[in-house]
Amino acid sequence: MSATDQISIRVEPTKESRLSQVDFNNLKFGQIMSDHMLVAEYNDGEWTDISIQPYGDIAVSPSMSALHYGQAIFEGIKGYKFENGTVSIFRPDKNWERFNKSASRLQMPEVPEDIFLGGLKKLLDIDRNWIPSKEGTALYIRPFMFATEAALGVHPSISYKFIIITCPVGAYYSKPISLKVETHYTRAAEGGVGFSKNAGNYALSLYPTQLANDEGYDQIMWTDSAGHKYIEEAGTANLIFRIGDTIITPHGDTILHGVTRRTIMELAEKWGYKTEQRKVSVEELIEGIKNGTVTEAFAAGTAATITHIDRIGFHGQDYTLPPVEGREFSLKVLDYLNQLRYGKIEDPFGWNF
Ligand code: COI
Repeated sequence: MSATDQISIRVEPTKESRLSQVDFNNLKFGQIMSDHMLVAEYNDGEWTDISIQPYGDIAVSPSMSALHYGQAIFEGIKGYKFENGTVSIFRPDKNWERFNKSASRLQMPEVPEDIFLGGLKKLLDIDRNWIPSKEGTALYIRPFMFATEAALGVHPSISYKFIIITCPVGAYYSKPISLKVETHYTRAAEGGVGFSKNAGNYALSLYPTQLANDEGYDQIMWTDSAGHKYIEEAGTANLIFRIGDTIITPHGDTILHGVTRRTIMELAEKWGYKTEQRKVSVEELIEGIKNGTVTEAFAAGTAATITHIDRIGFHGQDYTLPPVEGREFSLKVLDYLNQLRYGKIEDPFGWNF
């Protein structure tokens, strides 16, 4: 796969790299940003002034509409370094497509391929030394766009900024997580913005997540807004279960259509597992844990990769999942994806960009 390199990108290299200050053996998630960022401006219906410049603060107007009315979207992608030094980005075309779906839903302009993918390629070429190579580490890539018009009327902004920043990261979750089934607060409703990766979907999760944390759970398991009967996704990732001999993930436009989720379901199918994308009720899950048919449950996302779930709380009662060591499917996927992403095996799918 290739991205066009036709647009003109001005490059202003940093005068002083911060690379030597980074402890690559002790990477936390999202704390240290790489030397450069890509910035593009949208004005009068056109993308202009595309540059790669030193990472740093940007000036914004206090009346900038994103701060007031929330036109702000983002993506999460990972870049890897193979043993031979090759740099690979995992399925960024799928993130680009999803980004533009989010943009349309929030009445924002789409970002063309040569800026999103072409710009990303150039940015990673410049900051290639920031990409860690140890298993479990990656360069986390955060493309985002926000409305910059300085005006308080409620209308789609006439100007936007698209930026890509990157940071070397370790694991987002370093151990299996516990989830509380949320039966009061709601993440998304039919016809809403659940499928889009907009900042507001994360803002609204913070208060209910804090309540779940106070009760001893790591994250929330969101359920449908209509009756809180059906499982949607976890706080920062999609959910996948193995129930009986089937790999199942919740389905619909109230959930984020994750690239990792899609990848895992595609692999499951290819490997001959039965797969289903459908509604999964909380009752089906709890009954399945009790009678032993639910053998695996995990969160899947770019940041989370595959994070096992060890405990689920529902109406004050805890349900414990089987030990991680016996989770044949998720361990196999994790191992396969690690080999693929770090270039240890052939990539039969063309997922490494
Ligand atoms: C990701 O998985 O890339 C996400 O965006 C989740 C999160 C860290 C907000």
